[in-house]
Amino acid sequence: MIIITDVCGTYVLVLIAFRVIASDIPWTHTYVLRYSFITLISLALMHHVFGPISDEYYYGLEIFSIFNAVSAYMMILQGKGYEEVDLSGKVAIVTGANAGIGLEIACQFAQMGAHVIFGMLDCICNFMQTLVACRSQERAEEAIAHVKANTNSTQLEFMQLDVASLKSVREFAAKFTRKFDRLDILANNAGVNNYYRKETVDGFEAIFGTNYLGPFLLTNLLLPLLVEADDGRIVNVGSCVMKWATKIPFDDLNSKLSYGTGQGVYNWTKWAFYLFTLELHRRYSAITLTINCAHPGLVMSNFQKNMHPVLDKIANWFNWLRPFLQQTGEQGAYTPVFAATCRNLTGGHYLARSDIEELPKKFVDEELALRLWDVACRLVDLPLDYYPLPKDNN
Ligand SMILES: NC(=O)c1ccc[n+]([C@@H]2O[C@H](COP(=O)([O-])OP(=O)(O)OC[C@H]3O[C@@H](n4cnc5c(N)ncnc54)[C@H](OP(=O)(O)O)[C@@H]3O)[C@@H](O)[C@H]2O)c1
Repeated sequence: MIIITDVCGTYVLVLIAFRVIASDIPWTHTYVLRYSFITLISLALMHHVFGPISDEYYYGLEIFSIFNAVSAYMMILQGKGYEEVDLSGKVAIVTGANAGIGLEIACQFAQMGAHVIFGMLDCICNFMQTLVACRSQERAEEAIAHVKANTNSTQLEFMQLDVASLKSVREFAAKFTRKFDRLDILANNAGVNNYYRKETVDGFEAIFGTNYLGPFLLTNLLLPLLVEADDGRIVNVGSCVMKWATKIPFDDLNSKLSYGTGQGVYNWTKWAFYLFTLELHRRYSAITLTINCAHPGLVMSNFQKNMHPVLDKIANWFNWLRPFLQQTGEQGAYTPVFAATCRNLTGGHYLARSDIEELPKKFVDEELALRLWDVACRLVDLPLDYYPLPKDNN
């Protein structure tokens, strides 16, 4: 009899500990307090800490423990879905859409367009340009086939983009600008975390180049089209581990002096991405452009493939356990899609579980955001006074 309560209770406590330690959810969050309190009381009652209880209470507690575990799973792990809105006629870009969270974001955008009879969502799926060109084409076709199979959308287009190459970013933006006069949604999803230090073709450290500089340039080059949208959205896919970052190393942005396992670099590049969101919001909140940073959750994907080899092995060994502690790609896409579509949402936020999460004050540093912006402009060769506005305002 005790086993059910023990198993459910242990699961809830492990789930909470895992997510809190990973900084995915603050330990002060209502869910954390609620579920751990209920679990601890249930376990205490079961183990007679407050004295013996009768048989009926045992059964009641068992059923209650199952409900508590299922509820904790749904609220903490699964998260809330977004409200479907009509995206027909809208143009969206999702970077890194051939796998993981990006693929699901593309799918959900497409699904929303396809809900309307004549509704078409223009979802441009961008794929990393690899040295083996056909490999990239193959992955593109697989991803598009997946989205087509799961939605009714037929408007899926492949455009080549390597966010780690400034040349590729510029070519992509130029090609896109020739083809479209407006961009409604930009989901900056592509990202990496490398255990071994690598450099981009431009000579930047690869995590910095991919997670920050590439999207920084891409967004800026697409701003003239984004500001033309009625309800333009930029979603920067961030990560909760930004809360592990201690500083932006301006003296060593290319991590030549200190790289370690790469995790520290990943942490601060994600903080930098949030600071980018903050500064973009400061510049563009006056016009109808909503910019947010969305943490997808801890998602089962191939993201660990370039991280410490032991981590990749652990992920493979415990694949069966991951659905109990991590989100699926589909669930991971909920918060970015929420950021891109929720009508009442304002900008400049860090979002998690389809909700605004207040970050500790030290991360919300507007001066630092401005300083980083200026440094990034110099690195990607963008004029410091670059400030595209809607054509009507010019
Ligand atoms: N998984 C998590 O638990 C988690 C948690 C927090 C935040 N995130 C963030 O979520 C985002 C997506 O991660 P994921 O979990 O879906 O990982 P993933 O399965 O590894 O997907 C990453 C995507 O980014 C693409 N990409 C990498 N480098 C690129 C480049 N230079 N140019 C264009 N595309 C590139 C990858 O393409 P290829 O397949 O060609 O490499 C892939 O499509 C990342 O920004 C990550 O930091 C993930």
